[in-house]
Amino acid sequence: MGVGTPHHPSERIGGPHGASRPLPQDRTCPYHPPAGYRPLSTQGPVNRVTLYDNTEAWLVTGHAEAQTLLTDSRLSADRQHPAFPMIAARFELSRREPLALLGVDDPLHNKQRRMLIPTFGVKQVAAMRPRIQHIVDGLLDAVVAQGPPVELVAAFALPVPSIVICELLGVPYADHDFFEDAARRILRGATAEESEAGRRELMDYLGDLVDRKAKTADGGTGRGADATPEGVIDELVRERLSAGSLDRDDVVRLALILLVAGHETTANMISLGTFTLLEHPDQLAALHADPDLISAAVEELLRFLSIADGLVRVATEDIEVAGQTIRADEGVVLAASTINRDTAVYPDPDDLDVRRSARHHLAFGFGIHQCLGQNLARAELEIALRSLLARLPDLRLAVPVDEIRMKPGDTIQGLVDLPVTWGRG
Ligand code: HEM
Repeated sequence: MGVGTPHHPSERIGGPHGASRPLPQDRTCPYHPPAGYRPLSTQGPVNRVTLYDNTEAWLVTGHAEAQTLLTDSRLSADRQHPAFPMIAARFELSRREPLALLGVDDPLHNKQRRMLIPTFGVKQVAAMRPRIQHIVDGLLDAVVAQGPPVELVAAFALPVPSIVICELLGVPYADHDFFEDAARRILRGATAEESEAGRRELMDYLGDLVDRKAKTADGGTGRGADATPEGVIDELVRERLSAGSLDRDDVVRLALILLVAGHETTANMISLGTFTLLEHPDQLAALHADPDLISAAVEELLRFLSIADGLVRVATEDIEVAGQTIRADEGVVLAASTINRDTAVYPDPDDLDVRRSARHHLAFGFGIHQCLGQNLARAELEIALRSLLARLPDLRLAVPVDEIRMKPGDTIQGLVDLPVTWGRG
């Protein structure tokens, strides 16, 4: 599988030095950036691109420029800003509703983030590792019992982070079909209406959950029939809602971003990470020979795959960068996939090398919005990938590689499904 020609129809309009190129573009290979971003990055680290609605924005592909911009307070993450660039039509209706954390600027962002930092700290996540291992082992038992072939997204990649985030937040995992589907519609719905309906249903569901937890916290009913599992949402209800420092909608919005960001991203990394290792047998062999390479391998896979490939901001003032002027009210998209292949930072960036030190990658973003769940994501990825490879050392694809279905370029990158086999299967 190699890098082919981009899919976007309007790609034909401009060559590398012609009219501005379309954004986003689909990947032609699941683990390489869209081919159409490469000519842009060779032109310079900051270039003009055209969004789905024909508005223009800036695309950042340079590592240094991305770090500079992501720490510049003149770039806003506020989705309700009238000029905020949307990268697909489905996100248009999300302008109406505030998005907690990721869609909020300081000082409010700082207030929201400080409440959650302790939960996602290095020590707290280290303490969760035995439980994550237990969840992973249980799912692998079921995979082995089912026997080959198995569709690994449904059987493993999605349930690992889904169960973990449910337990952490205090959301009943029994409802996972509902919230996974709502998240899918939010992120990949065919229309703005479908995406908005997914968000509305998830808000209603989490609102109901918060109300039930608030009732229990009031002490009236005790932990009776209405009780839900205990977690971070209960802490927010007890310590913030009851004290008046957050209102009900604030708690619901925080729960929504944590639930969606907490399962969809990591699931994509597990499936795409597994696929990528299977497609790089030398790197897979290195991991089998030395399983302690797993944390370096996870870091390299995060860099190489850059599944959150398009961080979006709007300029609130004019900003000079790399000889260009980003004007106030212009949109900025940061292409993590290409930023993480910047030759100024990574030698031979298109090679997957599980022994390289991939530190400083921007797969978790940078600056104030840098991924809150990164310690948790690393722990889940290390445990899931290491255990999967140890348990099924001869794991392989169950279908020809070109039958593997990828998610489109305007969402978080990953695989729709991953049929695998092992043994004599
Ligand atoms: C491998 C998996 C993951 C990847 C690649 C990833 C990637 C990212 C990226 C790139 C951002 C910054 C977006 C921006 O600046 O526009 C981000 C933010 C965030 N992520 Fe993750 N993430 C992952 C897992 C998780 C998990 C497990 C959680 C758990 C709840 C989580 C929660 C969040 C939150 C709450 C934010 C917003 C932080 C803020 O605005 O302060 N992520 N993530």
